[in-house]
Amino acid sequence: MDESEIIKSVADHVREKFQGEGSGHDWWHIYRVWQNAKTIAASEECDIFVVEMGALLHDIADHKFHGGDEEIGGKTAEKILSTMGVNEDIVRSVVYIVNNLSYSKNINNKRDLPIEGEIVQDADRLDAIGAIGIARCFAYGGSVGNEIYNPEIKPDLAMDKERYKKGKSPQINHFYEKLLLLKDMMNTDTGRQLAQQRHIFMQNYLEEFFAEWEGER
Ligand code: NI
Repeated sequence: MDESEIIKSVADHVREKFQGEGSGHDWWHIYRVWQNAKTIAASEECDIFVVEMGALLHDIADHKFHGGDEEIGGKTAEKILSTMGVNEDIVRSVVYIVNNLSYSKNINNKRDLPIEGEIVQDADRLDAIGAIGIARCFAYGGSVGNEIYNPEIKPDLAMDKERYKKGKSPQINHFYEKLLLLKDMMNTDTGRQLAQQRHIFMQNYLEEFFAEWEGER
């Protein structure tokens, strides 16, 4: 198989696996991250094949749903790529990216990523903010039974990895605990520019939300 056939075949595999998933980590999340990654990669010197593979496989097996095995994503990605005859160096790069890019793994100390990993990480973070990010935030909250907002529960601004994983606070708090912080955590210039626009959109959204909450608009 050549590279474009492998990309198509991995995309088909991932699409089938994630079809209809309802917590915001569905196929269309992967699809958007893939598109964001290509947009960012266009202004970076990088191996676009590794970027696309990393984007398509970045959520292939979330440790949250696999008893906390933090390497499960990489192992699953490796299995898929080896059956397609992808060269070992590339498999190794993709596995490294899949195992090291997630938000929770980078909370306590930031992990070093190659440029391809930085691009996929930016692409994934972009999908957590802006109009899409708002939709995903509430979709996820609904799936775990969180409230939309509760003025009596204040955001936890000193969130570390363990508290982040528990995630029991109302979804509006999640903007202050994570989503509004992402624009300053981007790796690439293009990622930063796109994040800035999405950030402003979220700020406007929150202003409207609180005004409506108090019956002012
Ligand atoms: Ni993701």
